[in-house]
Amino acid sequence: MFKDKLEKLKSKSIAAIAAAGSTQTLESLRVNLLGRKGELTQLLKSIGTLATAERPEAGKLANETRQAIEADLSRRQAELSTAERAEQLSSESLDITLPGRKPQVGHGHLLTQVINDIVRIFAGLGYKIAEGLEAELDWYNFEALNMPPDHPARSLQDTFYLKKNKDDVLLRTHTSPVQIRIMEEQSPPLYIICPGRVYRRDVADPSHSPMFHQVEGLVVDKGITFADLRGTLESFVHQMFGADRRVRLRPHFFAFTEPSAEVDVSCIVCGGNGCRVCGGNGWLEILGCGMVDPNVFNNVGYDPETHVGFAFGMGVERIAMLKYGINDIRSFFENDIRFLEQF
Ligand code: DAH
Repeated sequence: MFKDKLEKLKSKSIAAIAAAGSTQTLESLRVNLLGRKGELTQLLKSIGTLATAERPEAGKLANETRQAIEADLSRRQAELSTAERAEQLSSESLDITLPGRKPQVGHGHLLTQVINDIVRIFAGLGYKIAEGLEAELDWYNFEALNMPPDHPARSLQDTFYLKKNKDDVLLRTHTSPVQIRIMEEQSPPLYIICPGRVYRRDVADPSHSPMFHQVEGLVVDKGITFADLRGTLESFVHQMFGADRRVRLRPHFFAFTEPSAEVDVSCIVCGGNGCRVCGGNGWLEILGCGMVDPNVFNNVGYDPETHVGFAFGMGVERIAMLKYGINDIRSFFENDIRFLEQF
């Protein structure tokens, strides 16, 4: 009786194991047979109810059967898991011959590049970088630069006032106020370059923008002459626009320099013969400069009898437009990627 039951369970189990199609089915089969309440376990327990004489034989048979089933289970388990792994590998495989996604690499805005170029050139001449404030006091933007409240030169720089009272606060119209702040804080020798944003109440058109960039330069040292100023600017022009560019200084007026000049570079398009870019005269204006006015030294507490120096200021957009042939200043700020990515 017991032997029959055992035989039946064995052949049923062997068939079921062979038919199991996945490791999951096989596992529940194993629990159903060998688990605590499994069929084989129950059968083994029933040996205790047999007659004493039958027990040794039954026990031996039962153990053999359990070992046979266990061996069969583990063989089938190995088969199935190998097959499942192979199936997983082939279904999840990557096609490494597909082209990858190219990362989009950006770059600095053209104005940032030009500012960096200018700063690098002057750093090479031993200048240090300074920073000022974009919201300035009237004193620094105008008065200390020799432009008292009624000075006509003020009207050339239409101004955004933030507060209208005795200590007027305004958006700086140029980077020149940095000259005053530096001289108040430091003593000569000074070799300073200062890039930054400036603001004027101008309506945007191809050559005007209410916000633009300047780079200011200031030198104060012993024995500085106008020739040092010219040599410095020539060195800058040659590094920025090329060694064959010529430089011309024209007398001009700035309240904070005396004498003052505007600086022209021989046209980078026609080389000086005259073309549409230079308006036919062969020269392009690039910056203003001059020897620091004694009144400015007085305003910062430097003795004008012992101090001498020069200053210059240039528009970054203007330099960039000349160098790269851009004809509308608004292109810098419209954020059109088709424009920006060209540079
Ligand atoms: N601040 C002047 C402007 O915005 C430019 C300038 C001219 C700066 C002469 C200077 C200078 O330092 O010496 O128009």
